[in-house]
Amino acid sequence: MNKRAILITGTPCVGKTTVAQRLTAKLDAKYINLTEFAERHRLTIGEDKERKTNIIDEEKMRMKISETIDKTEKRTFIIEGHYAPAVVPKRYATCIFVLRRNPIELRRLMEKSGFSGAKLWENLASEILDVCLVEALREHEKEKVCELDITGKTVERVTREIIAILEERKKCVVGCVDWLGMLEKKNIIDEYLKI
Ligand SMILES: Nc1ncnc2c1ncn2[C@@H]1O[C@H](COP(=O)(O)OP(=O)(O)OP(=O)(O)O)[C@@H](O)[C@H]1O
Ligand SMILES: [Mg+2]
Repeated sequence: MNKRAILITGTPCVGKTTVAQRLTAKLDAKYINLTEFAERHRLTIGEDKERKTNIIDEEKMRMKISETIDKTEKRTFIIEGHYAPAVVPKRYATCIFVLRRNPIELRRLMEKSGFSGAKLWENLASEILDVCLVEALREHEKEKVCELDITGKTVERVTREIIAILEERKKCVVGCVDWLGMLEKKNIIDEYLKI
């Protein structure tokens, strides 16, 4: 069986889990959320106390992902998490979707989800400065990396766009957003980029 892993990455709170779950149902795929996966298989090697997040043993995770893909009777795997590009073996990763959301909208979603203080500003800065996109491009061939601006779109629409790209009915592109330029034009950079 020709297995394929479709990666969904993006800044915290951008909408990865929501989109990945919908996509999984549509493609009859196996869903892997990397945060849950790390906990279930005990792949953490400590805690980043300042950021209140677990530190992952990337090598162990890479092996566990390979093992899971090999032994699961599914062709398609939807793997989501902001470090997915770094831990999913390249031989399986066929497409890496980097979800992008306008920082003005993202900030509202983050605040609604309980983010505040340093964590909010740090994550917002990551979105503004394209951190997840840069990481995806560092780990994988450019042709496999697709950026999707999901600002103001329903989950259904985002899922349809992803499927259209997978079926080659829509082009996979990189460079479709420029948050820094947008904030500069509106003269609100200082309000959003605080670190
Ligand atoms: N297309 C959308 N339109 C509006 N709200 C959305 C959309 N997608 C997700 N949301 C909302 O945004 C919030 C964050 O979504 P989600 O949990 O899917 O993000 P995430 O990227 O998985 O976050 P994390 O990195 O923290 O796991 C949730 O409250 C969700 O309901
Ligand atoms: Mg999530």
